[in-house]
Amino acid sequence: MQILGVDVGGSGIKGAIVETRTGKLLSPRIRIATPQPATPEAVGQTLTELISRHGWTGPVGIGFPAAIQRGIARTAANIDASFIGLAIADYFSEISGSRCFIANDADVAGLAEMRFGAGKDHSGVVLIVTIGTGLGTALFANGQLLPNTELGHIFLKNGEEAEAYASDAAREAHKLKWSAWGKRFNRYLATMEALFWPDLIVLGGGASAKLEKYSSQITVRAPVVPASFLNQAGIVGAALFAETQLTPHDQ
Ligand code: BGC
Repeated sequence: MQILGVDVGGSGIKGAIVETRTGKLLSPRIRIATPQPATPEAVGQTLTELISRHGWTGPVGIGFPAAIQRGIARTAANIDASFIGLAIADYFSEISGSRCFIANDADVAGLAEMRFGAGKDHSGVVLIVTIGTGLGTALFANGQLLPNTELGHIFLKNGEEAEAYASDAAREAHKLKWSAWGKRFNRYLATMEALFWPDLIVLGGGASAKLEKYSSQITVRAPVVPASFLNQAGIVGAALFAETQLTPHDQ
């Protein structure tokens, strides 16, 4: 079925209409800058604009940069703190007039990669890491997602929080060359490997397209591959997630 997939990020809100049977985008991707401060009302208005620019009236799946339990945001690392405790799916549905379904952004990117992309048919443990303003993670065992892993917020042995040390925002803030940033990111992956022993690591987000610039710094045992959808995994996966929430009657 066709669903509008939306990826809410720290710097941009991106969306496209997705055919969920194939994972293909049926419309050009539209990106609008994330309003600052990214309050619920401001993000809700941007979302409404994105929906209307697609001329869309159907269901909307949203990947959101927070731990989400049954539509409620529990954290807010790179968005306004007023999201915490908010029933975002209901709030956005009301503001936009569309039925909105919401889940963690890295989790939905993982859903897309496991269904159609780099993790397709992969049994064992697969870790997806999205590299952007934040560091997002999705953890799958035999194709089953353990939702809301917030492994970008672990502290590394050097005492730094992984996200502050090795996200794409950290690379830009410290003006790091790809090789220098790659060393930092490898330290993060090595920590993940020592704790979870993934069989495969899939990288998503903006920096996944640049893997050849830092792959020489990566020393973990598990194969490290870019997401097949690169930074569009979140859009596709948001639509896939929404589909799982619709009743057969809706489809
Ligand atoms: C948030 C996660 C999110 C990640 C990527 C982190 O700061 O805590 O929920 O998945 O950023 O956006």
